[in-house]
Amino acid sequence: MTESARTTTATASGKVILCGEHAVVYGHPAIAVPVQQVRATATVTAGPPGAGCVLRALDLGREIRLAEAPEDDPLALILRLALAELGLAQEPDWTVTVHSQIPMASGLGSGAAVSTALVRALFRHAGRAPEPATVSRLVFRTEELHHGTPSGIDNTVIAYERPVWFVRGQPPETFTPAQPFTLAIADSGIPSPTRETVGDVRRAWQADPTRYEALFQAIGQVVVAARRALETGDMAELGRLFRRNQALLRELGVSSEPLERLVAAAEEAGALGAKLSGGGRGGNVIALVTPETEEAVGQALRRAGACQVIVTRYRPSTANG
Ligand code: MEV
Repeated sequence: MTESARTTTATASGKVILCGEHAVVYGHPAIAVPVQQVRATATVTAGPPGAGCVLRALDLGREIRLAEAPEDDPLALILRLALAELGLAQEPDWTVTVHSQIPMASGLGSGAAVSTALVRALFRHAGRAPEPATVSRLVFRTEELHHGTPSGIDNTVIAYERPVWFVRGQPPETFTPAQPFTLAIADSGIPSPTRETVGDVRRAWQADPTRYEALFQAIGQVVVAARRALETGDMAELGRLFRRNQALLRELGVSSEPLERLVAAAEEAGALGAKLSGGGRGGNVIALVTPETEEAVGQALRRAGACQVIVTRYRPSTANG
């Protein structure tokens, strides 16, 4: 095939945080899992000679010439970082197109997934297979532009596309749950302003470090217990831990009335436990369901205001189920 006819496509999954959000920014552990049903897709083709690298972001209706893009544009940044990592002496004449099914600002990692798909597509177009650790390191730089002080969990779980146990500053551990489990992921339809909630929690912690450190510590203990529950297949315990984590997130000030309504509806319909996932205020609620309750919980979540419910199964034998 000629260079001009060659098209390279790569995708990246969404993600949810099972437990530990916010406390993870302060060095406590968190657990996140990929969500394979929603993906970002990037395509690279040869562009017009002399045009340099041109990026088309279909969902944003944007077309950017890399050479003219500002320093702080996250899409331009990830292209520059990937091309530098590839060691290309000259900017190639490539047209790069990106599209995402992952709702933006919903806590499902849309920004990190778009960047990951871009890095994978650029590497593959250059004939290289990127290591997950490399992808994660590059995408983290764009997360800093989006969120200010990210822990790094979103770029990590999406780069590895496996359940991860994450502690800031330590190599991530991927792990395998002992039993299959199913999540109903309900989108409140309200944007989750991660930069804002992370900033609010920081200010609250600065004003009252003793209280907030105790809350972070308690969340960290929930995460340790949740890993044990996942590794022993104790889903009833995992459900209780979701409830405990949600109570602590409420105390941190990152829940909201619409999210509480979704959590209550899921639990009343038989979910083992439910909690917000990600930055909070808006975004998604995750509910731990069983084959017997998944239908009723999905319906209850929709009645309580969810604009979309994704049911995702995690099986011990595969990355996501
Ligand atoms: C965002 O998905 C999770 C937070 O813990 C922020 C972070 O870890 O960077 C709220």
